Amino acid sequence: MLVTSSIPVSVTLLALAPRAWGKTTTKAVVLFGDSYTDQSRQHSIANGSFPGKDYQEVFPPADTAADGGVQWPWYLGLYGNYTIWNYATGGAVCSNVLTPLSGEPDVIGGQTDWFIQDHVSNNGTKHQKLDMDPAEFVVIIYVGTNDVGLNSFVTDNQSATVSLADLAGCQLQTLRNLYALGARRFIVNSMIPLQLTRLYANISAPTIYYPSPPHDGVVWNKRIFNFVHTMNTLLKNGVDALSQEWQGSATVDMFNTYGLFEDMYNDPTKWFNGSIPANVTGHCHQCPDANDFRQCGIGDCTLAERDSYMFWDELHPSEQTGRNLAREMWAKLTGSSNY
Ligand SMILES: *[C@@H]1O[C@H](CO)[C@@H](O)[C@H](O)[C@H]1NC(C)=O
Ligand SMILES: *[C@@H]1O[C@H](CO)[C@@H](O)[C@H](O)[C@H]1NC(C)=O
Ligand SMILES: *[C@@H]1O[C@H](CO)[C@@H](O)[C@H](O)[C@H]1NC(C)=O
Ligand SMILES: *[C@@H]1O[C@H](CO)[C@@H](O)[C@H](O)[C@H]1NC(C)=O
Ligand SMILES: *[C@@H]1O[C@H](CO)[C@@H](O)[C@H](O)[C@H]1NC(C)=O
Ligand SMILES: *[C@@H]1O[C@H](CO)[C@@H](O)[C@H](O)[C@H]1NC(C)=O
Ligand SMILES: *[C@@H]1O[C@H](CO)[C@@H](O)[C@H](O)[C@H]1NC(C)=O
Repeated sequence: MLVTSSIPVSVTLLALAPRAWGKTTTKAVVLFGDSYTDQSRQHSIANGSFPGKDYQEVFPPADTAADGGVQWPWYLGLYGNYTIWNYATGGAVCSNVLTPLSGEPDVIGGQTDWFIQDHVSNNGTKHQKLDMDPAEFVVIIYVGTNDVGLNSFVTDNQSATVSLADLAGCQLQTLRNLYALGARRFIVNSMIPLQLTRLYANISAPTIYYPSPPHDGVVWNKRIFNFVHTMNTLLKNGVDALSQEWQGSATVDMFNTYGLFEDMYNDPTKWFNGSIPANVTGHCHQCPDANDFRQCGIGDCTLAERDSYMFWDELHPSEQTGRNLAREMWAKLTGSSNY
């Protein structure tokens, strides 16, 4: 499924100045990832209405994303007046070959195929053509939480021959594949401080995502910290190397999601604006009995309180965290972000 051939695309590429985010006109953003980005694709798959070519995302009230509401790419589109092509799918990993979990369309495979179906005519031939100007769209990859998480590295369920280096390598290979399809502007989001989520906190009590068997919260907490930091270092180094290699023909940069989340955690009042004091340790959505998902929702925060929370549930950032991410990403795309 890897696209390895380098197919010539439009000559307008040569006019692209490297790293000149501020000088380009961004009209569209293409996103790949998991439930931290998905609006409704996974639900559509579960629904039997497979999200194929020209898929229309489903928004609240018809369907809610894993942040309890509208997911951040929609806000990014609103803030920057960008057309959003969101291929992220809840439960996805970078590669189902490396870390097969629930088999959702993966970033390097099924999600890239959707992009091809929507935007590349004569794929794989010498007449291949991209339907967007490479200078006018940015690709964002934001994945890794499931790759290293439950039923994978954190629980030692990964294949004996797969390492974190392979997971980072998959993200970089995806960039190469998209480059071969004609994309020229890329952002890789670093992984968030997963040790701050309830699921990976140093607490051993069961959660809805891992009701049993009992686990050692302190061990998980240290493992996830290690995985996230190692992944982010591998991604940063890989992105720097690609940037060197592509000098003059493409731009690729990290977005420091980790740093943004740390800042939200350390200075909550600056970022959260619901009706109660900012809360970065708890979460709005409650499941009072970890063994009974039917009780989820009992004890949730109110709509007015929601934007006070950094996290929606035991694993997912909240909608307000998503707005913050969207605002900072918009700043990044217009050349003025610290992240
Ligand atoms: C689920 O299926 C129904 C009927 O096809 C559709 O209207 C709805 O939008 C679907 N939900 C999602 C999230 O795709
Ligand atoms: C938003 O983008 C569309 C399409 O690129 C463009 O036609 C329109 O003028 C833009 N609106 C604003 C307010 O910039
Ligand atoms: C695009 O072309 C490549 C190379 O021929 C092929 O491997 C891939 O499956 C094609 N993807 C789609 C979505 O047609
Ligand atoms: C993960 O590994 C544990 C311990 O070996 C095993 O009990 C469990 O079934 C595995 N889970 C999956 C999804 O493979
Ligand atoms: C668990 O985390 C809390 C808060 O981050 C910290 O104060 C405590 O020292 C940690 N305990 C262990 C055993 O790591
Ligand atoms: C919090 O701020 C966001 C903008 O970041 C705004 O859209 C939202 O409505 C605000 N929430 C509340 C409860 O005021
Ligand atoms: C944060 O929210 C949780 C609910 O998940 C609550 O139990 C906790 O007391 C709150 N913390 C603060 C400091 O308000």
